[in-house]
Amino acid sequence: MKPRVCFDDPVPEAGFETLCTHFAEDPRAYAGAAVPPIWQSSTFVYPDAAAFENRLSDDTPYFEYTRGGNPTTSMLEAKLARLEGGTWGECFASGMGAIGAAINACVHSGAHVVAVRHCYGPTRWYLEHIRRFGVETSFVGGCTPADFAAAMRPETKLLYLESPTSGYFEVPEIEPIAAAARERGITTIFDNSWATPYFQNPLALGCDLVVHSGSKYLGGHGDLVAGVVVGHDQQLRQRIWREAHLGGATLDPFAAWLLIRGLRTLAVRMRWHHENALAIARMLAEHPRVTRVHYPGLESHPQHETAHRQLRGYSSLFSFELKEQTRAAMHRFLDRLKLFHQAVSWGGHDSLAIGGTLFSVDADNPAWLIRLHVGLESADDLIADIRRALEA
Ligand SMILES: Cc1ncc(COP(=O)(O)O)c(C=O)c1O
Repeated sequence: MKPRVCFDDPVPEAGFETLCTHFAEDPRAYAGAAVPPIWQSSTFVYPDAAAFENRLSDDTPYFEYTRGGNPTTSMLEAKLARLEGGTWGECFASGMGAIGAAINACVHSGAHVVAVRHCYGPTRWYLEHIRRFGVETSFVGGCTPADFAAAMRPETKLLYLESPTSGYFEVPEIEPIAAAARERGITTIFDNSWATPYFQNPLALGCDLVVHSGSKYLGGHGDLVAGVVVGHDQQLRQRIWREAHLGGATLDPFAAWLLIRGLRTLAVRMRWHHENALAIARMLAEHPRVTRVHYPGLESHPQHETAHRQLRGYSSLFSFELKEQTRAAMHRFLDRLKLFHQAVSWGGHDSLAIGGTLFSVDADNPAWLIRLHVGLESADDLIADIRRALEA
């Protein structure tokens, strides 16, 4: 069992930004250091022989071995749990580590899963991969509660949601969809990497587990890979921890420390990402060389109203389609960009762009989709870069 670490709430009604800075931290506990240290130790010393003998009892207060728990990582887990409105968090070595563990904790051979069709590619591949263990998944393309209810079966154990979805940034109606799952005893997992807890709290919308790629906005500087699962239910916690401890994809304390540092500026970064992305999405939506912009913050987005109800703001990853739907036109645009580097991932300080047909709905008539991650540079410079690439 993982050590139970209790963190006092310094200011019980504290706001988001205050929690990011102060929650779960107590400089008096580590020699007055204003910035907490990194407990970069694989093993921890027992106080006596009895402590080792009793280590498997449920309420051991000791850290034992970093694969099963570490003070730096526990501090991060407490912060993330508090920010998401959960009671516990479990960190992993990557977002996929967290997603795989959360899925494994909810299914067994013969179980059925309902998932959003445009979930993150490797999540979809993982759900297809576990078919060989007797777990079948139905992927749902629509966004309404009826679309999801129609896919649920008596043997459905897991509902896997992402909103906005990857690629097309569709926004399913989370509250009624999660409520329908709960009525049927189905556990809901929600990937909240896009919105972060600053803009959206899936537990408050009725989901059971929230997963994040910490490699994105939570870290925020493109210098770490991490993941987390947050929840309320203690039985689920025990199952997730077993996945972490036995699967071994636990987070290194240094990456945990970098993530704690990233969280301190999460709110200000997200506000800036929101403003920059909205300015660029609006410019693209009006540009004669662009046909469609898939950004839920735009009034023209098909689920903008739902997005407006569910989210407190919008982050900065979205896609668009050029009027000239050819590979050559897409390559020309991408290769002319100077400030947007061509790279996967997103959520950092720098702007990124990639393009392809990865998320195409119609295999016979693929759409060339360009995905932008808008960073923290000056919006005017980014807009000029895009205009130059579109108009050259
Ligand atoms: C929506 C989403 N979820 C999860 C992940 C996986 O996270 P990681 O790369 O940290 O494993 C990604 C990565 O791009 C993602 O885009």
